Amino acid sequence: MGRGAGNKESGTQSGIRMSAAPSVIEVDENARVDEDGFVCVHDSITLPPRRGTRLHLKVNGRHVSVIRGRGGKLYCVDSVCYHAGGPLTAGNIEDVAGRECVVCPWHSYKLDLSTGEGLYTDLNYKIASKGKRQRTHDVQQRGDGRIYVRLNLTEPDSLPSDEYAYGKQFAPAATPINETSAK
Ligand code: FES
Repeated sequence: MGRGAGNKESGTQSGIRMSAAPSVIEVDENARVDEDGFVCVHDSITLPPRRGTRLHLKVNGRHVSVIRGRGGKLYCVDSVCYHAGGPLTAGNIEDVAGRECVVCPWHSYKLDLSTGEGLYTDLNYKIASKGKRQRTHDVQQRGDGRIYVRLNLTEPDSLPSDEYAYGKQFAPAATPINETSAK
């Protein structure tokens, strides 16, 4: 059976609707992890190919987001912003000096979705890196259309985003899981 836009949870052409799916998908990694260490986030909920669509997940208690980038590329990052616990998961997707970033709604910090680096404009008006601030995780979409995630909790040992990753704070409950906010 086809997945994504055509399945039961996704009642519209653009994808999943809030009325048919939880805003946060809870995943028990220990119960479902495969031999490669990946966990299937849901049996039937997938992600439309449009840039900016996303899934808000709680994997073994950790808030992470799967976000579509350009050309259908998938990223997985901690959902809560390293800076002050803002709802990064609801941020716009923007290109910054050719790097695909999510922009935190609270103070507009830009995080490279691929590396987790914080980007800023230096005194020469060039985009520079603060280094890795937000933890990134492995994500795959397999042939059956399902999304798989593998948490990366050890490289490096600690990152600023770890402080908020298991907390209660999160994106507003009304944030649609298929929100598109790419620029
Ligand atoms: S909390 Fe995200 S930029 Fe401040």
